[in-house]
Amino acid sequence: MTQESMPLSHIGWDSFNRLPVTEKAPYLAGSDGRVFHVLLAQQFNRAALDSLGGLATRIRRTAKTEEGMTFLRGLMANKRAMLYFTQPSSRTFLSFSSACQILGVNVGEVRDTATSSEFKGESQEDSLRTFSSYFDMIVMRTQVGGLAEHTAWVLSNTERPIPIINAGSGKDQHPTQALLDIYTLQRSFEARGGIDGKTIVFVGDLARGRTVRSLAWLLTNYTGVRMIFVAPEPLQIGRDILNLLDAAGVTYELASDFETTIPEADAIYMTRIQDEWDTTEGESRKIDTSRYHFRPEYLDRLGPHAVILHPFPRRQEIPTAIDHDPRAVYWRQMRNGMWIRAALMALIFKKERLIDGYYASVR
Ligand code: NCD
Repeated sequence: MTQESMPLSHIGWDSFNRLPVTEKAPYLAGSDGRVFHVLLAQQFNRAALDSLGGLATRIRRTAKTEEGMTFLRGLMANKRAMLYFTQPSSRTFLSFSSACQILGVNVGEVRDTATSSEFKGESQEDSLRTFSSYFDMIVMRTQVGGLAEHTAWVLSNTERPIPIINAGSGKDQHPTQALLDIYTLQRSFEARGGIDGKTIVFVGDLARGRTVRSLAWLLTNYTGVRMIFVAPEPLQIGRDILNLLDAAGVTYELASDFETTIPEADAIYMTRIQDEWDTTEGESRKIDTSRYHFRPEYLDRLGPHAVILHPFPRRQEIPTAIDHDPRAVYWRQMRNGMWIRAALMALIFKKERLIDGYYASVR
């Protein structure tokens, strides 16, 4: 394979790394300007979100028939994906591997560096470069913030630049979760004018929840969205995100009383306490988080068309008694992840025309 001209190979790592997050997107596209690496929520504008959601829906409907499924499975049968998940994951891992199955992509995996040569002292860089020899894309989740970006930069400067998809990096970003959250909101508000003008209430550990950080940014693509961030003071959303929202001219509020925000919400995005990031033993336990649980009696205060989302896993913040309520959409949200990730991979590998053609032919 000849060296493809990748924008990311035209910039040194330090210069790229130092760029503000809002200026990185152009470097992550392919030489043809299309989506290539998927690392940051800042890569997606309104048009991209609309077309990705549309493609996910066409894949979802196509997959309903056996013939449609056979068509989809033939689309990327010549592709191989490495799922490099060295941080715990059930949903994201399974939804990526299911999305790969839907498109016929063959999957290899590393889930524990103790079973890879990294254990023998191989650098992460060499390990990832090794994977790139056998695979056509790498989906990676690590607890090291920025590692997906660095890997993308390293591989873009080799003779085999392959797309890197960030499936959760440290505390900073989880762009594909945010994409499935947007898809869920698009579907939830389909009959109510879409996401524009809606009030989204984020609740829980907003300081360390990477899904919130990515989703808050994606919501800046919509007109008139209001965000309310509800958290105990030490877990309130970071200043860096608020600065981005300020620059985007978005209306937001910070609150500490959850209950009073409920009637205002079109969507409530619950999150768990991310205590794996505690820097001192039992740090999170010292914070009273019980006021940030969705109590069954809150359902009476919630609007009839409002929805409750959660990236999962959950703990006590949503009791299972809520699950039967039609406004609790988190199980559907999870399944949406499979469709949006299939759509994303189809887009990266330029399969959308084939999908659209098939879809039109069977309607
Ligand atoms: C989230 C994550 O890993 O950031 N999980 C997920 O991907 N659905 C949220 C969490 O772990 O709380």
